[in-house]
Amino acid sequence: KDARIAGISSAIRVIPDFPKPGIMFQDITTLLLDTKAFKDTIDLFVERYKDKNISVVAGIEARGFIFGPPIALAIGAKFVPMRKPKKLPGEVISEEYSLEYGTDKMEMHVGAVEAGERALVVDDLIATGGTLNAAIRLLERVEVEVVECACVIELPELKGRERLGDKPLFVLVN
Ligand code: PRP
Ligand code: MG
Repeated sequence: KDARIAGISSAIRVIPDFPKPGIMFQDITTLLLDTKAFKDTIDLFVERYKDKNISVVAGIEARGFIFGPPIALAIGAKFVPMRKPKKLPGEVISEEYSLEYGTDKMEMHVGAVEAGERALVVDDLIATGGTLNAAIRLLERVEVEVVECACVIELPELKGRERLGDKPLFVLVN
């Protein structure tokens, strides 16, 4: 295993009982403070995706907006934000997904991507997989091929991977 992974893992702060009792919050803000661990995180993704003909990095609000753009710049892909509802000013398509209580929506600008493009979906963390599943559905509706999903952290006990169907998931830490 890559020696850089241990440094990335130890730079992630775990805060118990946030935002509520029983949740072990995976705080990536401390990873961003560690210049080596942050660079290693981006480098590991770039090394994996640089020669995969990816034209779109789709980053999921909010924390996918931190990791997605530096990957996009380094591999020569465009960055497309997948946003919470009513944030994007242009025409959008949207997909619902379930949260612990109720549902939310994810939106993407129409015209940001073209049929036949190859996308990487980026977020900080996969828990139940509902968020990444919505991003995949949005991209596939406009005939974009989702090559892979990439996250810094996976919580394997929540089995989010199973909600991605046949889409590959790549994570650095679990
Ligand atoms: C967190 C995390 C992922 C999502 C994973 O985001 O950043 O995006 O949950 O959960 P899932 O796999 O069960 O769908 P959150 O919805 O808390 O919002 P934020 O990134 O805007 O803070
Ligand atoms: Mg999020």
